[in-house]
Amino acid sequence: MQVLDIFQKCEGFNRPDELKGLGVYPYFIPLEGSEGTEVEIGGNRLIMIGSNNYLGLTHHPRVRDAAQRAIERYGTSCSGSRFLNGTLELHEELERRLAAFMGQEAALCYSTGFQVNLGAISSICGKGDVILCDRENHASIIDGCRLSFADVRKFRHSDVEDLEHHLQAASGQGRATLVVVDGLYSMMGDLAPLREIRSLADRYGARLMVDEAHAIGVLGQHGRGAAEHCGVHPDLVMGTFSKSLASLGGFVAGPAHVIHFMRHHARSLIFSASITPSAAAAALAALELIETMPEMRRRVLQIAHRVRTGLADIGFRTAGTLASPIVPVLVGDQDRMLRLWRALFDSGLFTNAVTQPAVPVGADLIRTSYIASHTDEQIDEVLRRFAAAGRKVGMIDDGPDTSSQVARG
Ligand SMILES: Cc1ncc(COP(=O)(O)O)c(C=O)c1O
Repeated sequence: MQVLDIFQKCEGFNRPDELKGLGVYPYFIPLEGSEGTEVEIGGNRLIMIGSNNYLGLTHHPRVRDAAQRAIERYGTSCSGSRFLNGTLELHEELERRLAAFMGQEAALCYSTGFQVNLGAISSICGKGDVILCDRENHASIIDGCRLSFADVRKFRHSDVEDLEHHLQAASGQGRATLVVVDGLYSMMGDLAPLREIRSLADRYGARLMVDEAHAIGVLGQHGRGAAEHCGVHPDLVMGTFSKSLASLGGFVAGPAHVIHFMRHHARSLIFSASITPSAAAAALAALELIETMPEMRRRVLQIAHRVRTGLADIGFRTAGTLASPIVPVLVGDQDRMLRLWRALFDSGLFTNAVTQPAVPVGADLIRTSYIASHTDEQIDEVLRRFAAAGRKVGMIDDGPDTSSQVARG
């Protein structure tokens, strides 16, 4: 019998090489240096509008100092899991501060946000339970659901009627249910209808978990995220340090007994080394800045608003809520999106090329996202270079009133 080779599928995988041949492969581009809002690639400086460093804190002197001091004190790695030798007093202080900040009883830090969703969801949900998961939730939520062995039911994106239909069915079967959603969706920059979702979860006795990865530090009066922005209190909330918190790692916060349970059951926590001392210290310093400098979140939202309006005036279609640092530029087909990405890159703008599976087929987009430390001059350049790139790839015309012919986001 002919035995198939498990590696065979890799041989036929040549789309990246085709794109490289055409000069439009947009992934894994190595940066030679970074100052936050500007990066160096191939000896050229590009304005960074493709980062999740929304508050610009990766280069803040207090965050850098905190990371360096932690290395002096604890070394470069904890060399073990939180469960065994890898818990520092620094991790515990960070957890206390995060719980207080999020208005929850307790918090637990993991080594990445992805691991939070894997471990938190799969530890509290199991066989016989129901998870109601928005179709467009982040991959780490989807994978956490898969790992749980629970009965996972996906509802249409932000569709509260569809959610209610699923809640009715689950409660009719007497099943313990978790509803899980992103607070601010990372690709389209849209907010979950959290008020409606909260009240439906309450009506049917389900628990609500919100992923605040993109909203912490940016949305809400205190920067707690989309739930605060919408005036609701989730039962569980997760966040990552890899965006506004200027570091690497993540956390989940909620009732003390639930967090206690996760500490002893979440496999991605127990069987993985803890966050490095410098990463924990950087996140703690960034959290202090978020608590004391609300002007940073006002600034990044003001910049994103200016770009959204400016791009629409030029003739691009954008999407997303006004209260978002993410401004997706809707393109449609992949070839055109890649040509636009390349034209932007050549003009000195670093953007993110987004295609399936991150978005549905034919809904390709250029994701742009802003940093509180972008200057007004950089934003002028962004708009100028977008206009030039749009003309180069034929997405917008040169004529005086063409912008009105293009649907606006
Ligand atoms: C919504 C969402 N959740 C979770 C994560 C995972 O976070 P991390 O980068 O810390 O693994 C991300 C990261 O892209 C995200 O966008």
